[in-house]
Parts: sequence; C-alpha cells; structure tokens
Amino acid sequence: MNKPHGGLLVNRINKNYQVNTANTEVNLDPIALSDLEMIANGAYSPLTGFMNKKEYDSVVHSIRLPNNLPWSIPITLPIEAKKASMIEIGETVNLVHDGIIYGVLSVSDMFTPNKQEEAKLVYQTTDPEHPGVRKLLERPNIYLGGPITLLRYPKRTKFQEYYLEPAETRARFEQLEWQTIVGFQTRNPVHRAHEYIQKSALETVDGLLLHPLVGETKAEDIPSELRMECYQILLDNYYPKHRVFLSVFPAAMRYAGPREAIFHALVRKNYGCTHFIVGRDHAGVGNYYGTYDAQKIFQHFTDEELGIHIFCFENSFYCKKCESMGTSKTCPHDSNDHVSLSGTKVRAMLSEGKLPPKQFSRPEVASKLIEGLSKTLIETGK
Ligand code: ADX
Repeated sequence: MNKPHGGLLVNRINKNYQVNTANTEVNLDPIALSDLEMIANGAYSPLTGFMNKKEYDSVVHSIRLPNNLPWSIPITLPIEAKKASMIEIGETVNLVHDGIIYGVLSVSDMFTPNKQEEAKLVYQTTDPEHPGVRKLLERPNIYLGGPITLLRYPKRTKFQEYYLEPAETRARFEQLEWQTIVGFQTRNPVHRAHEYIQKSALETVDGLLLHPLVGETKAEDIPSELRMECYQILLDNYYPKHRVFLSVFPAAMRYAGPREAIFHALVRKNYGCTHFIVGRDHAGVGNYYGTYDAQKIFQHFTDEELGIHIFCFENSFYCKKCESMGTSKTCPHDSNDHVSLSGTKVRAMLSEGKLPPKQFSRPEVASKLIEGLSKTLIETGK
C-alpha cells in the first residue's frame, strides 16, 4: 500500500472530547467545515491543523511545507478582525457551523495574509472574476492557525454510503487486493473523453478510484446529486464492476489549475492511490491556465517526493475517421474529423432536451442529465 504523504495517516477525530462550551466560538463557512473534516480524517496528511504563518508563507511561495514536503494549496481558517480581537494565542476555540460545535482548534498563530500575493501565486491571477480568487477575497481577512480536533462529522444529506475516509478506501483496496490504483478527480459528469483516459490508465493498473469532488463548486457546475446518479449509470453499463471503486471527495473546488492538480494528487495518495490522472486543463476555469500547465508543474518535483505517479493525458476526442477515441498522439486526422464540444455547448443542448452525439457522451448518461437538469430548472424556476 502506498504510504500517506509525510509517512503517517493523520487522525484527529475524537468523538469523546469534552468540549468547553465557554470557549470563544469561531464560525466555519462551508469550505472551512470541509477542510476541518479533511484534516481530521487524514485526507490532508501531513497537515494536523489550519496553517500557521510559516506554513502558509512556505506553501504560497515555494509550493512546499517548511519541512520541504510538496504542498500546493494554503489550508487556512479566515476570521473577521472583530473575532480575532477576542482571541489570544494559546487558547482553545470552538469551531462552529450553523450553531453546532464540530471541532476545536488550539490557537498557535493569527496573521493577516497578503491576499493579492496569495491570489497571484496560487491562482496565477488577481482577477476577482476568477471563482477561486473571488472566494479568497470574499472570505474574512485574518487567518487563524493551529492544530484541530474533529468532534463530530458534518451532516451527510446525500449519498451517505459513498463517503469513505482515507483509512476506509485503503482498507477496501487491500480487500480487493489492488496493488496499483489510479485516482480520478472530477467535478463533471463523466463523458467519453474522461472514460477514455480512465480506461487507458486501467489497462496498466489494478483498479480505478472514481473520486468526484462533491464539496462546494461554482453555481454553473452540475449538482453533485445528479452527477452521482450519472456515475452510477455509467459504471453499471460500461465498466467492469471489480475494477472500479466509486466514492466521494468532499472538498471544495478551488479552480486553481496547476496548483490544485498537485493538491488533488497528494490527497488521492492519502486515500491510497499509487497513480493519478491529469488531463487537459485540470481544475482549470476560463482561460486562466494553459491547456497543459497542470501537467508541467509536476516537473518541479521528483517522483520520490510526490510519492504518486502522474498519468498525463492529452486532449482526448472521438475521431470519425479512426472511429475511435484518441488524442493527437494516436490519431493522424484533422480536427474537423473530431467530435469536440465545449462544456457550454453541451449544457445548452442538455437544457433544451437534446442528446449530445453518442461519441461525446454515453446516451444513458446524457438522458439522466436531461431529466435531472429539467428538474433543477423546474425547482429553481429558472
Ligand atoms: S476538473 O476540474 O475536476 O479537473 P473535469 O471533471 O472536467 O474537471 O476533469 C477531470 C479530469 O479529466 C481532469 O484530469 C481533466 O484534465 C481531464 N479531462 C477532462 N476532459 C478531458 C479531455 N477532453 N481530454 C483529456 N483530459 C480531459
């Protein structure tokens, strides 16, 4: 089994912790709540808490923790200045969401970040239109750092059986006797291009962890409930059951392109993966990143320090002349022979009840999307 990042799987869950309700309360937004859980269950190993200034600076500037381990995304707990004025270093604060205490944090640091610099270095842009930058700027301006303990799990309102922690996915892989496991991150329904790169990887490893992100995403993305139904339909119809494992990744999407690709890979290593897929424009949004920037960034790290092998794939498409899926590495034909549709185009087709070509999306999946999206439109009145 692949070792977790840093060597040990962090576990900071203590359901018997005797919480002092007189402690200062710090409110968690949905991102902080999900980060709390992911730190506690070891998905973010070796992190044991929200970052202090030294860790934050090191990650923002060098894509490494102070001990030199690669780490690309700052995991921070933003609080309002007024709240910060009530807190002292060394005290324990209660971490609260919707009036419920989910955890505690032992305050080791409190600092004002340079958010413009964070945006520039982590997202490669300070444009407030970028969804990750917008979120960064919207969140409060002081970061609270220190080790955490999770006292209770956030409520699961959907697909409960798919929430597996790193220790659980690792145990399942052992049961399945998989030695090599490729992780696949996605925030979209799985289309033929995704299927192609997953199956190409599956040709050389024992199993696939289909690991859709189900934390906070931007409003235009397809809701996770609908995506989960689509994944299940796809797996039932087109994948060998004993080679794929579906569970969810309850983190928020940052849309940080290259930086997020590293983060996605390291976290999947903690879930037990030995390999990770990075295709075109991984975790990208708009035109902020070059098509293959999320692959190139891995060149700054050795395989040993990452501890997970990256499978890079070029833009994949269906070629009418080849009558198969391929990439420019395997198909000699012109782009006019390729079926490629933009996300916006597909979304428009689905909203109008039109099936995209079967070379783009499996019809069973597209039908479910049409049905699901029309329900969403009725429910939201849009
Ligand atoms: S992501 O934001 O989670 O990366 P998405 O769900 O679209 O978005 O992509 C999941 C994975 O598939 C990423 O590694 C992405 O690079 C890859 N990918 C998506 N579409 C293609 C494609 N047409 N060709 C090659 N790789 C792709």
